Amino acid sequence: MSSAGDQIVVRRAGPLRGEVTVPGAKNSVLKLMAATLLADGEHTLTNVPDIADVAIMSDLLDAIGVRTHRAAPGTLRLVNDGAITPVAPYELVERIRASINVLGPLLGRFGRVRLSLPGGDDFGSRPIDMHLRGLEAMGATFEVRHGYVDARADRLRGADVTFEFPSVGATENILTAAVHAKGTTVIDNAAREPEIADLCHMLRSMGAHIDGIGSSRLVVEGVEPGDLRATSHRTVTDRIQAATYIAAVAVSGGEVVLRGARAEHMEVLLRRFDDMGLTVTSLGDDALAVYASTRLRAIDVATLPYPGIATDYKPLIVTMMAVADGVGIVTENLYPGRFRYVEELQRLGADIRTDGHHAVVRGRPSLSGAPVRAPDIRAGAALVVAGLAAEGETTISGVHHIDRGYDDLVGRLASLGADVERRIDAGRSGR
Ligand code: EPU
Repeated sequence: MSSAGDQIVVRRAGPLRGEVTVPGAKNSVLKLMAATLLADGEHTLTNVPDIADVAIMSDLLDAIGVRTHRAAPGTLRLVNDGAITPVAPYELVERIRASINVLGPLLGRFGRVRLSLPGGDDFGSRPIDMHLRGLEAMGATFEVRHGYVDARADRLRGADVTFEFPSVGATENILTAAVHAKGTTVIDNAAREPEIADLCHMLRSMGAHIDGIGSSRLVVEGVEPGDLRATSHRTVTDRIQAATYIAAVAVSGGEVVLRGARAEHMEVLLRRFDDMGLTVTSLGDDALAVYASTRLRAIDVATLPYPGIATDYKPLIVTMMAVADGVGIVTENLYPGRFRYVEELQRLGADIRTDGHHAVVRGRPSLSGAPVRAPDIRAGAALVVAGLAAEGETTISGVHHIDRGYDDLVGRLASLGADVERRIDAGRSGR
C-alpha cells in the first residue's frame, strides 16, 4: 500500500526518556539479501528492519528467482532453488540504488546479467563506472543500451582492483563477484563501512575465503561456483538510525538508552557529538546511553568515507547545528547536490546559507513549525528531528521517503515521549 500521501506531525515536547531498540541497517540488509543469489538453499536473515526498501528488494529477488518471505517479525527467509533468471527489470531497479548489488553475484555465478541502470535518491548523479571498471578487470564485458547494462563473462578471473575512491557499492559488487572468480582478487582502497564487514562475515559463513575484513585491502580467494552454501546471518545495527535517535535527544534534551547501537561503528561521529556538548556513553558492546541537558555548541564538520563522518549523518548534524549556540561550517564531500533539504529547514526558520558543497549554519535558540516536504530518506528523518526543536506544529509530507529506511520512526520517538504522530492519507485509510 502506498504511503505517498501520509504526513508526520511533530510538536516540541519535553525531555525524551526511556529506551529504544535500534533496528538492523538498510544499507547492510539489502546487500545481504542480494548475496543469497550466490548459493542454493534456504537462507535466513535476522534483525531485518521493516522498511519499504526491503520489500522492494524482495520483489526484485522474487523476479530473479529467489523466493522471500517474512517468517516472523525481523526474520526473512530467502529460498534460492537455482532457477535463476539473471534479469533485473527497470520497474524494480529504478526504485532503489541497492538493486545494483545483484550485478556482482549474478555475473560471478552465472556469467551473464541484464540489469536496468539503477535509481535511488535524487541527490545528483550517481554513476556506476567504478563497478564496471573493476568487473572489466576481472574479464567481464559490458554493453549499455536502451537503459540496460548487458554484462557477460565466461568465468571471472581474480584481479587487482584499486579504486580511485572507496565506493561502497563498487566494493560490494567486486567482492561478491570475486567469491566465484578463478584465483585471487585484491581490492585496494576498498570501502570500510561496518555494513561491508557485515557482508564479508555473511559471505564467509557461506564458505567464501575473504581476508582483510574491515580494512581497505580485501583479499578474496575464489571458490568453484556451487561450492558456497546457504546460511543464517544477523544484520548489523543501523548506525544512521541510531544517530537519528541521538539527534532527537540532542535537540529535545533528556536521557535515552539505545539498545543494539554500537559505539565502535560511530566513533568519529560520537567524538564530534562530544564536541557539541552531548554525552554519549557505551553500555557494553551493543548499547549506548545519550544524555543532553544543555544547548548544543556549533562545530565545523566535513563528510568523508568511513571511518569519517558519513554523508548520511549530515542532515541530522545540520539540524542539530540549526539550534546550537554559534556558527559552524558543514562540508559535503560525497554528493555535491545533497543540500536540498536546507530549503525545508529554512522554512522552519533555520539560518543556513549554502555555497557549493559548504553550508554555513548560524544556530538559533529554536525553530518555528511549518509544513515541509521530505526530499529523501535521511533528510526526511532530519526534518522530523527539526520538528522536535520547533515551536508549534511541523507537518512533514513525502513520508514514503522516510519509510524506505526507517522502521517505525514515529512509534519509536513517541515511546520516548516525543509529541509525534502519523496522519494516514484519507484517500488510503480503510482501503
Ligand atoms: N561513485 C562514482 N562511480 C561509481 C560509484 C560511486 O562516481 O562507480 C561516486 C558516487 O556518485 C558518489 C560517491 O562515489 O558521489 C559515493 O558513492 P558510493 O558508491 O560510495 O555510494 P553508494 O554505494 O551508491 C551507499 C549508500 C548511501 C550512502 C553512500 C555513501 C546504499 C544502498 N547506499 O551508496 O546511502 O550515502 O553509500 O556512504 O548502501 C541512504 O541510505 O540514504 C544512502 C543514500
